[in-house]
Amino acid sequence: MARLIKLEALSPHKIEPGSFPADKPIFICTCGLSNKMPFCDGTHKAAREHEKPGELCIYAKDGKTVLERRPDTHPPEAR
Ligand code: FES
Repeated sequence: MARLIKLEALSPHKIEPGSFPADKPIFICTCGLSNKMPFCDGTHKAAREHEKPGELCIYAKDGKTVLERRPDTHPPEAR
């Protein structure tokens, strides 16, 4: 499973100290599909639902619609 993400941001997302409650867990997006970067917004569920091993998915801007599927010619190295 893999996905192609086009990133256009040219600056970091600033998180101010105290801008979120410290008594709750914070989930940082690692799938690249969140619309509320750097935080997870649950969009990763689309990846779980749509992606298959050995496949590279290209998503629409909504992060949920698969526009194209390609063979993943650069699979991750053994971990
Ligand atoms: S990990 Fe990316 S939206 Fe949840």
